[in-house]
Amino acid sequence: MKKAMLAALAALFALTAPSAAEEAAMPADQPKWSIAIHGGAGTLDPDRMTPERRAAYEAALQEALDAGAKVLASGGSAMEAVKAAIIPMENSPLFNAGKGAVFTWEGRNELDASIMDGRDRSAGAVTGVTTIKNPILLADAVRTESEHVFLMGEGAEQFAATQGIETAPPEYFATEARREALERMKAEALSALDVDTKFGTVGAVALDMEGNLAAGTSTGGMTGKRWGRIGDAPVIGAGTYADNRSCAVSATGWGEYFIRVGVAQEICTRLRISSVEGKPDRGWSVHYPGVENWTTDDYAEFDAQMTADAVMAEVKQLGGDGGVILVTPEGHALFSFNTTGMYRGRADSSGMREVAIFGGDVEAGASNTPDH
Ligand code: GLY
Repeated sequence: MKKAMLAALAALFALTAPSAAEEAAMPADQPKWSIAIHGGAGTLDPDRMTPERRAAYEAALQEALDAGAKVLASGGSAMEAVKAAIIPMENSPLFNAGKGAVFTWEGRNELDASIMDGRDRSAGAVTGVTTIKNPILLADAVRTESEHVFLMGEGAEQFAATQGIETAPPEYFATEARREALERMKAEALSALDVDTKFGTVGAVALDMEGNLAAGTSTGGMTGKRWGRIGDAPVIGAGTYADNRSCAVSATGWGEYFIRVGVAQEICTRLRISSVEGKPDRGWSVHYPGVENWTTDDYAEFDAQMTADAVMAEVKQLGGDGGVILVTPEGHALFSFNTTGMYRGRADSSGMREVAIFGGDVEAGASNTPDH
């Protein structure tokens, strides 16, 4: 890999690459694995977060990342890694998924989740469930144990009962902070964006040593959602997509915009078409002399980052915000977000393991695109 070139690109686009030591320790023929996670994106200001709260988020992200990485490092599948990473975040009250989910207008916690296997593009999703402890597990059961892709509400819960999926009483999901956010929203006639400040949706994407990709996403949606509103997280193609031919994506953000852009599938489709075309120039040689000398792997990483940034720029143009995580078949774990921060982490078989929160944490692997 061309270090000088990538170092320059890293400065421009916050792209990061393995160090020389990491590459030396990574024989070319060694099976690779890779994982990225997110715990939401939004208005995140280091000056407004106490050291204790920051440490709590970093620890929760690390726990999720470690759980997924452990599965992959021991030869487990990308699907198992995605579930293993998401479950601790669903169980943590810090994130807007499972326990700690936001409240609907009526004061309920209604949960959404989806999961997709890049091997065969089998997918499962649920929306509006209120008693499923880990909605990501129910989404996967829909994928594997039903003829369907997407189940809602009461029907989804009836299906869960036939599968022995663990339940919890509605009170389990409720937290005081989320209840206060709903009350403030109503009292001050605020929008969900005013009270949430971040979209605490959680997600994971993974590449396993067999070369298979998977993606999953879980959320409580947006504070004060009503009239059966559904965001992007359970919508295959919007919040979640995985296809071994291109990439695996999980999104977090203002769901309506992610649905309109079809963010997750749009990124995968663009990458699938560009990989079919080989090394498309896309006009980059004008800006990056020498681009034609890059290795296929350099190109794949750059193409994936630019593609994710371009799709997130479309979200921004329409007025939406948020972010995505993606993993490519080559094992590049990347981020793109147009908010000031995104709870995120990534790890791979080269030894990289990092978590980050704020946009300025570029050394931790973020691609922040606030100006797009
Ligand atoms: N991205 C989560 C939602 O909009 O519901």
